[in-house]
Amino acid sequence: MFEREKRGERALLVLPYAGKLDGARRAQEFTELARSAGAEILASVTARVDAPNPKFYIGSGKADEIQAKVKELGADLVLVDHALTPVQERNLEKHFSARVIDRAALILDIFAQRAQSHEGKLEVELAQLKHMATRLVRGWTHLERQRGGSIGLRGPGETQLETDRRLLQKRVEQLQKRIDKVGVQRDQQRRARLRNTLPRVALVGYTNAGKSTLFNAVTRGSVYAADQLFATLDPTVRRLEGLESGPAVLADTVGFIRELPHDLVAAFRATLSEARDADLLLHVTDAADTERDVLIGVVNGVLDEIGAGEVPQLMVFNKIDLMDTPARIDRDAEGLPAGVWLSATSGDGLDLLRQAIGERLAGARVHAELRLPPRAGRLRARLIELGAVKAERYDEDGWRLDIDAPRGLLLPLAGDVRGDEARLFRAWLDAA
Ligand code: GTP
Repeated sequence: MFEREKRGERALLVLPYAGKLDGARRAQEFTELARSAGAEILASVTARVDAPNPKFYIGSGKADEIQAKVKELGADLVLVDHALTPVQERNLEKHFSARVIDRAALILDIFAQRAQSHEGKLEVELAQLKHMATRLVRGWTHLERQRGGSIGLRGPGETQLETDRRLLQKRVEQLQKRIDKVGVQRDQQRRARLRNTLPRVALVGYTNAGKSTLFNAVTRGSVYAADQLFATLDPTVRRLEGLESGPAVLADTVGFIRELPHDLVAAFRATLSEARDADLLLHVTDAADTERDVLIGVVNGVLDEIGAGEVPQLMVFNKIDLMDTPARIDRDAEGLPAGVWLSATSGDGLDLLRQAIGERLAGARVHAELRLPPRAGRLRARLIELGAVKAERYDEDGWRLDIDAPRGLLLPLAGDVRGDEARLFRAWLDAA
């Protein structure tokens, strides 16, 4: 039961909407999601839902209409662009005699297909099991109620659902343990990388904005990029060369999307921590998209939700080859680069991107001499541990340290050490 069930490929889409119908973009996106999952789309049906029907979510007249269509077209799968309760899902399946999958389950399915790293795969499976667990547990409670006091029915006579639930619970625990272990390994790798103290840049953006293409273009390597939603699922990290500020580390991340299932946001620690721990986010957007500003808002919303709302951003307006716009850098009131207009496919503006990242990171990096009295041994030890000390000398006044590190790495140290050491360090950092 833990294998993903074989899905019928021939699908009917149900697109619920409330109030006036303005969902052309949404419909297109859901269609692409369904295609990404490998479905052949036979037809789409819109369904106006002002007050959700507890039995079906959609109205029962609409349910009948869809039932007839399922039969007529020979669909074996109905995809609904909304969250359904387990009961609604079951009722619809019975009514249609076809499998019913809601938006959350569809997105989980795509993540499952695309996850590449060991950790990514484990996290997707865990999220899927949790999604499934709500359905099993409720189904089981419902049965239990029907049976009433059923002493004697337990034990060897236990129902399939009870067995399933126990297996499920065991598998969830097993997965959680494995993920924790992989997480520890990753933290170790991260610490090792931090010791290198290279500034960290992460690509974020709405799905299909062109992150992977840009990642490849600026690092001239190869990461899987395809015109499919969520082509990339795991943070892929490469060195970024040719910056005025010296080399940096660039991470590609998963594409963001509206109404990301909550389990998934919580599950994708690997990808999301790349964004949270970055010195600079490159927020990639499809400049030619008419809904550009809305999608920028969605991405910023998710970033807030995962605690990355405060990380400095450089906007990247990609795909200018589709518009009549030359490559350029937009600057803020202080003259710092705020946005870069470019094309990842034609390469136009990539040099400007490097220039802008370099300028932004230069301000984010501290390179200065720090003088410490002999008693500030704890602070010195911490700085060495972080790899921030390039060279040091000792004379009668104490230590002279040649510090070179990203500001973001040094900032938390002021909180780690106490008293005089902390005051001295903070003052130095402000002046550096
Ligand atoms: P997810 O993995 O879904 O988050 O997508 P992504 O943001 O990594 O997008 P990806 O790089 O896979 O690109 C999506 C599509 O946009 C692909 O078909 C690319 O070829 C196309 N694309 C990317 N950059 C450009 C560009 O500068 N111009 C044009 N015309 N198309 C581009």
